[in-house]
Amino acid sequence: MAKKTILDFLEMKEKGEKIVFLTGYNAQMARFEEAVGVDMILVGDSVGNTDLGYDTTLPVTMEDMLTFTAAVRRGAPNTFVVGDMPFMSYQTSVEEAIYNAGRFIKEAGADAVKLEGGAKVADIIRGINDAGILVMGHIGLTPQSAAQFGGWKAQGRNAEQAVSLVKDALALEEAGAFSILVEGVPAPVSKVIRDKCRIPILGIGAGHPCDGQLLIVYDMLGMFEAFKPKFVKRYGNLAQDIKDMLAEYVKDVREEAFPTREYEYGMPKEAQALFEELLEKEGLA
Ligand code: KIV
Repeated sequence: MAKKTILDFLEMKEKGEKIVFLTGYNAQMARFEEAVGVDMILVGDSVGNTDLGYDTTLPVTMEDMLTFTAAVRRGAPNTFVVGDMPFMSYQTSVEEAIYNAGRFIKEAGADAVKLEGGAKVADIIRGINDAGILVMGHIGLTPQSAAQFGGWKAQGRNAEQAVSLVKDALALEEAGAFSILVEGVPAPVSKVIRDKCRIPILGIGAGHPCDGQLLIVYDMLGMFEAFKPKFVKRYGNLAQDIKDMLAEYVKDVREEAFPTREYEYGMPKEAQALFEELLEKEGLA
């Protein structure tokens, strides 16, 4: 299937067809996601939590993100890939933001970048867009600013905050964002944002009204065990499945139940005979 473009995403919004968005961090998972027809893959800086073992996304670097984004690109050559700009790769100046956004496109093969923030980052979005790079906004419970929210708290749950989120979305659209990810926001607020914006509104923990849905792939596969956010639907329990398989391997090796003959390479008869003869000759028998 041909890679979707922003025109396809706009058309999907107009027709009310949902956009399927999923995070991905490596080539193997990206292959699976492309095989089942995921529309868009986000190489999120959540890779800091999922694969790099950090407690937050803050330590993730540009080099980390380029490595993971390039891997996803190789695994899913025909899927729209969004590279997530890590903390401090865009906040310091518009010039630095454009430079780093360009690296995602040039060095990692991303189709677009995403960055966090509302009206305050509109100039950065404008600069990146003016440089010819597709940029997705991200508002609501933005993980890089979680400390400013006092932790992992849904945003827009009071009327003033909700109105301010709608204004943020409109400011990002006006600045040139091709779509906006809304995270951890009540469904009635997402609905207003969806209706007010012409561009696709994608949601994670933002309810059914959004034009598309995102989940962290490890959450939906049941690989992340520490806790389950309210908005996550687990489609399996891969953590348990993997641990069961690993435990069986540990047992098999210890009990010499693996490898059995079927997993071993043989040697042609004459080579075996010659091998034994040579060992004898070399005093190695
Ligand atoms: O990094 C990421 O995966 C994200 C999601 C949490 C929305 O930005």
